[in-house]
Amino acid sequence: MRTPIIAGNWKMNNTIKEALTLIDGIKGNELNANVEAVVCVPFTAIKDVKEALNDTNIKLGSQNIHWEDNGAFTGEISGPMLKELGVEYCIIGHSERRQYFNETDDTVNKKVKAALGHGIKPIVCVGESLDQREEGKAEEVVNSQVINGFKGIPSEAIKDIVIAYEPIWAIGTGKTASSDDANAMCSFIRKTIGELYGDEKENIRIQYGGSVKPNNVNELMGKSDIDGALVGGASLKAEDFVKLVNY
Ligand code: PGA
Repeated sequence: MRTPIIAGNWKMNNTIKEALTLIDGIKGNELNANVEAVVCVPFTAIKDVKEALNDTNIKLGSQNIHWEDNGAFTGEISGPMLKELGVEYCIIGHSERRQYFNETDDTVNKKVKAALGHGIKPIVCVGESLDQREEGKAEEVVNSQVINGFKGIPSEAIKDIVIAYEPIWAIGTGKTASSDDANAMCSFIRKTIGELYGDEKENIRIQYGGSVKPNNVNELMGKSDIDGALVGGASLKAEDFVKLVNY
């Protein structure tokens, strides 16, 4: 009943020219219409990629948003600016942004509210570090990221939010969480959403992210609480992205 969602996180990759070449490569293939495919591209490529996606079902996403609509925030991009460009999804609180740009659960929360306020669907990233996992604190960390990230979010919004569980130690490292461990944490996240929002927990989509590739996507997607994948490296190759959407 939850539509699977495979989202590419291009990160800081692809000039406009490179972006259009990648989109062209993807468009040469038939994509499973029962899977929602999203590409989260750099701000600079949004306008051109939007045009290139016009004749497809592929959705467009950004990788960040500011919580204010406008003002003295040099270098930032706001909800109205993204909405104007036709952005439907926005990655919020990716671990790289938490690590390198000081994003916190509080800024994540403000950004989620801003995105929802402009009709943009948030992909909220959570996940523990290797140290935290080894100390047995993974659930505690993820639980507090979810609780704090969702403060004040109304239950009507839950169906429009995607959570991406990305254990930091699995991102870009080639180490994937085992499908059982990934599913266990996704179930735990759904349980947390259930404690906050009751039955809405069945409507929220939860992705796994961290070294998802064509050769492990099937096993991950076969798990009960994994509804999709947030994909970095493999989303930069048209052939791999197509294979992931057509898992
Ligand atoms: P990866 O990145 O697929 O390259 O591990 C995932 C992510 O950071 O979203």
